[in-house]
Amino acid sequence: MKVIVIPGDGIGKEVMEAAMLVLQNLNLPFEYEFFEAGDEALKKYGKALPDETLEACKSSRAILFGAAGETAADVIVKLRQELETFANVRPAKSIKGIKCLYDYVDIVIVRENTECLYKGFEFEFDDVTQAIRIITKKSCERIARFAFELAKREGRKRVTALHKANVMKKTCGLFRDICRTVSRNYPDIEYNEYYIDAACMYLVMDPYRFDVIVTTNMFGDIISDLAAGLVGGLGLSPSANIGEKHAIFEPVHGAAFDIAGKGIANPTAMILTTCMMLRHFGYIEEARAVEKAVEETIAEGKTTPDLGGKLKTMDVAKEVIKKLKKY
Ligand code: NAI
Ligand code: MG
Repeated sequence: MKVIVIPGDGIGKEVMEAAMLVLQNLNLPFEYEFFEAGDEALKKYGKALPDETLEACKSSRAILFGAAGETAADVIVKLRQELETFANVRPAKSIKGIKCLYDYVDIVIVRENTECLYKGFEFEFDDVTQAIRIITKKSCERIARFAFELAKREGRKRVTALHKANVMKKTCGLFRDICRTVSRNYPDIEYNEYYIDAACMYLVMDPYRFDVIVTTNMFGDIISDLAAGLVGGLGLSPSANIGEKHAIFEPVHGAAFDIAGKGIANPTAMILTTCMMLRHFGYIEEARAVEKAVEETIAEGKTTPDLGGKLKTMDVAKEVIKKLKKY
């Protein structure tokens, strides 16, 4: 199977190199093809998402993506829309040995990935700027169903919809109403709702009330960083963009220019992202082995500076590979 690999900008390139080292140790029937996109591609080719890269993505079921910089909207947001990867799955799960607010958090955020304010419909007229928020019945139905099916598949107990329907009566109102309707088809899974602002407080004060979260695009973007903070930071948070024909796997974090070029980015998010890809394509044992090797590496304190350690990006990857050899 062909996998399109786009390292992108900043630490995207560094964490991708580390994750590829681990992946290539697994002897899977994948052929990796590398393509460019991002700020550097824009400078080089005049286009942040060159046609060649987009065509390659369209021809493949699997895309591995690192991060883009200031061109993220023209690259990854565009790719999600072009490839109709309508569901962005972002787990926030505690890993043993990492100091954070709570001991055991296990939440999956299901973020609608193609609409909302991120559709890119922005205009300006003299001193006035305008953004149009698109929320359709079709997208609400498919994301709500996706969240409940994920809950069912993973044996999870509750789906919580987050919205702001008291203010955005039409757009969030539609999302909320459809989540309610879809929930009736899943009597074994508890369903509840919060306003997005209150949910931010609950997430920090009592994350245990959440299991699966379903929400619209921009709210999902914001709370997935919040949830990442609950379990140790963006250096640990993987994600998968799932559609009917394609899937894009990328860490939650961006190009992190503040630490780029120093070789200290945490590759864990990117490595766990490849595990999401392995699981998606049925390589469950391999995914488990890599996850276990990652957990052991962290438990031994062999981490990058964001987690208080002294290791470099590639050293973490090499530690993970050493542990993998045991399995
Ligand atoms: P960011 O996610 O790149 O970084 C936020 C903070 O988390 C920074 O302090 C960074 O050092 C830290 N961090 C992130 N990943 C880390 C890792 N693997 N290891 C250790 N620390 C890590 O978000 P920021 O700084 O707001 O944006 C930087 C650039 O990335 C911008 O140009 C932005 O547009 C772009 N971006 C791209 C995204 C994407 O391609 N999916 C997503 C978010 C931002
Ligand atoms: Mg984000």
